[in-house]
Amino acid sequence: MAKSFSQFVCNSCGATSPKYLGKCPECQTWNSFVEEIKPKSSKTLNKLQKNSAQPITKFFSEEEIRLNTDLEEFNRVLGGGFVLGSLVLIGGDPGIGKSTLMLQVASELANKGNKILYCSGEESAKQIRMRADRIAKLSENLLLMTTNEVDTIIHSATSIKPSLVVVDSIQTVSLEELDSSPGTISQIRECTNRLMKFAKTTDIPVVIVGHVTKEGSIAGPKALEHIVDTVLYFEGNTHQTFKILRSVKNRFGSTNEIGIFEMKQNGLSEVSNPSEIFLNNRVESSGSVIACSLEGTRPVLIEVQALVSQTNYGYPQRNSTGIDPKRLSMILAVLEKRLGYKLGSQDVFLNLAGGIKVSEPAIDLGIAVSIASSYRDFVVRKSDIALGEVGLNGEIRVISQIEKRISEAEKLGFKRAIIPDKTDLKGFSPKSIQIVRVSGIRNALKEMLVP
Ligand code: TYD
Ligand code: MG
Repeated sequence: MAKSFSQFVCNSCGATSPKYLGKCPECQTWNSFVEEIKPKSSKTLNKLQKNSAQPITKFFSEEEIRLNTDLEEFNRVLGGGFVLGSLVLIGGDPGIGKSTLMLQVASELANKGNKILYCSGEESAKQIRMRADRIAKLSENLLLMTTNEVDTIIHSATSIKPSLVVVDSIQTVSLEELDSSPGTISQIRECTNRLMKFAKTTDIPVVIVGHVTKEGSIAGPKALEHIVDTVLYFEGNTHQTFKILRSVKNRFGSTNEIGIFEMKQNGLSEVSNPSEIFLNNRVESSGSVIACSLEGTRPVLIEVQALVSQTNYGYPQRNSTGIDPKRLSMILAVLEKRLGYKLGSQDVFLNLAGGIKVSEPAIDLGIAVSIASSYRDFVVRKSDIALGEVGLNGEIRVISQIEKRISEAEKLGFKRAIIPDKTDLKGFSPKSIQIVRVSGIRNALKEMLVP
């Protein structure tokens, strides 16, 4: 085999150098050089390019075959199991539960008779065994390997031909040809490229685990997002029991799908009724309103909590957990301008209960009503749900797939849904929940606040 060499390339202008340079001699940029494997010579490239293009109809289209796990929450996030030959990246903070999740998925699949190769560069085989004993029934089909070399992994996987390969984590494996240490951008990129090639040529799905890192010498999974087929992030505070697995890129399914898990003594368990979980600690008090966010295909009811109180010193505080602070400022401005609320002298704290994060504007109405409720100290009817986006003129704007959200609220026993008056329900008429249409924020408050 011909030896491949590495070279350094300027990220900003593409200049190359055999050595690392602090400053690019071409474009004068500092710290822009990264190590790369030297591309193949043009002679070999010519040989490779002979395989020419053909009409799309000539290509044989097979029915998509997926490797299904019994973990429903995991399946849904993937868009229904692993697509053969796909490369999946699971990112998340250290300690969030990535290894636990993958070990569970791997043992699950192994118990169903699939051969699984689990490669770890982080823990010893003994440590993994101890953890696995706690979280799953073990099977001979789960093969364990501890190594730090990506070529060793590919070599073993080629001879074992497993149904799935897990590499935990991409930051601990490396390629001998590159001088840089494991975890640097050039290492993780080259290793990922190799694993990608392996997956595509063998049709074996590969999962790579990547730690999200704060700025530092170790590169994070963000740098790999464009290479892989599917990117899943495992989120949640390490102290919180609920963890959310979110899909942010998926070539084989919808994005923004979430799976919710709870970390227990014996591993992660699935939460299949998230709305109930997020609502079950609710107490009747001012500032608490129920809204609904569509997470992928699933409506999730959320408790929005606001606390508005007199500012005692200095600037008024604006503190939001779970929503974008800019969104909060916008809603506060609407309440000040359209309703004359004097919020300039008030601290405002906003929280989505249960640690969920939402970026959908469909919960705006919930946020606005919860702030108004706390400001005026009126409670909101416990059986109401607020659905709608708030516009700058104080109008309530139509949101997508409202039928789904109303149905979820109905299922959980809510009695009234406050919705934008321009909503076209297209013949949808729920039985046990009353629809109340509102045109503006003032109307909505009149309906929802109980003096
Ligand atoms: P881990 O999967 O090692 O995280 P990652 O691979 O993302 O770094 O999980 C870490 C945490 O999960 C660890 O702090 C202990 C906790 N944990 C449990 O609470 N119960 C369990 O059964 C397991 C295996 C882990
Ligand atoms: Mg781990």
